[in-house]
Amino acid sequence: MGDPLLLNVAAPVHDFKSQGLRDLIEDMQDTMHALNGAGLAAPQIGVSLRVVIFGVEKTPRYPNAEEVPYTILINPKLTFLDEEMEEGWEGCLSVPGMRGLVPRFKKLRYQGYDLNHNPIDRAVSDFHARVVQHECDHLDGVLYPMRIEDLSNFGFSEVLFPDSDLQDD
Ligand code: NI
Repeated sequence: MGDPLLLNVAAPVHDFKSQGLRDLIEDMQDTMHALNGAGLAAPQIGVSLRVVIFGVEKTPRYPNAEEVPYTILINPKLTFLDEEMEEGWEGCLSVPGMRGLVPRFKKLRYQGYDLNHNPIDRAVSDFHARVVQHECDHLDGVLYPMRIEDLSNFGFSEVLFPDSDLQDD
């Protein structure tokens, strides 16, 4: 946070066949897994393109975590399916060690492409919808602290949640 690149509107991908795109996604996967994140957007590793990846596996460590299928989403388009919002705690690999309470739409449809230019079109809700909104915000220069409505709900993870080892996202 503080890097002007994270405040840019990222450019759409035009060339799905380029080696550069494959290398970018490999770098993003390595970064997300090394930092134990739920998702990552290309601008977070310094590339201003409309590419996000996300996914949360079911693990015995987090029995209550909702599973989100591992997805590479290029040139995403979001459509909110109704007005309903829900608040939830978020973190971000670009804002390490912090958590904030962020309102998000509860249900949405997302469309875009995978790495082979196959279309993706899903209607999702709850945590899956939250992760997608968080990652796609990065493509429009929005970091989650900008969406916190009451800044008294923003702080250090270890102070807010001393007994848990939360996943970074
Ligand atoms: Ni983030």
